[in-house]
Amino acid sequence: GCPAPKVVKNHEGSAMLKNPENAYRVLKALVAAVDMPVTVKMRIGWDDQHINIMEMAQLAQEAGVAAIAIHGRTREQFYRDQADWGIIGKVRASLRIPVIANGDVRNVQDLAKIRQVTGCEAVMVGRAAQGNPWIFRQLTEYLKTGAVLPGPTIEERKEVIIRHLDMLLKFKGDYIGPREMRKHATWYTKGIKGSAELRCLFNQAVCRDDFLRILDKMK
Ligand SMILES: Cc1cc2nc3c(=O)[nH]c(=O)nc-3n(C[C@H](O)[C@H](O)[C@H](O)COP(=O)(O)O)c2cc1C
Repeated sequence: GCPAPKVVKNHEGSAMLKNPENAYRVLKALVAAVDMPVTVKMRIGWDDQHINIMEMAQLAQEAGVAAIAIHGRTREQFYRDQADWGIIGKVRASLRIPVIANGDVRNVQDLAKIRQVTGCEAVMVGRAAQGNPWIFRQLTEYLKTGAVLPGPTIEERKEVIIRHLDMLLKFKGDYIGPREMRKHATWYTKGIKGSAELRCLFNQAVCRDDFLRILDKMK
């Protein structure tokens, strides 16, 4: 599925859609080599002239994979346009193994719609979880009870920012860590009062204390 130039240049990621036979061989070898279920994720084709998800998914099933996640875009689309949920539904209907629907699910309404359009029980969420990990409790609660939970409180946001920051500091160190945290902190505070000002402040933060001082301003 990965569309990044450095990946496809190496015939990996979504470039594998260009060579279905090779993808089949890779999947078959992988399934044979490990003792756990193998799942695969793919886009619907290389470009709109080469949409081959039906064939690719069939081959993956034949290769013995346990489930397939489908992002309803071509490689050439990157993240443009709407994901094509209709084709995900067609693939699902043609397979015995489960299909996990992916692309453009941002809230409970999208979840309900993609499940209805595709007939898939399982859904995968990507970008909407950036800065909003609470989406998963909202989606699961909605599936369980139909209730739409409120978003996170300010306190919950602060807690997660600090936890994320501490993990990044540990993982990436004192220079990269705070710098990488800037965008995440901005995402975690998107839509709250004063978010534009917070964004400016986060973008200047260079250490843990800077973040804590900024969080103190969040009311
Ligand atoms: C920052 C970022 C990193 C991603 N990394 C991966 C990855 O490692 N493997 C993968 O299969 N998809 C990856 N994706 C793609 C997502 O899993 C997903 O297919 C795509 O974002 C469409 O779903 P969405 O509309 O819910 O974001 C990544 C997406 C983003 C934005």
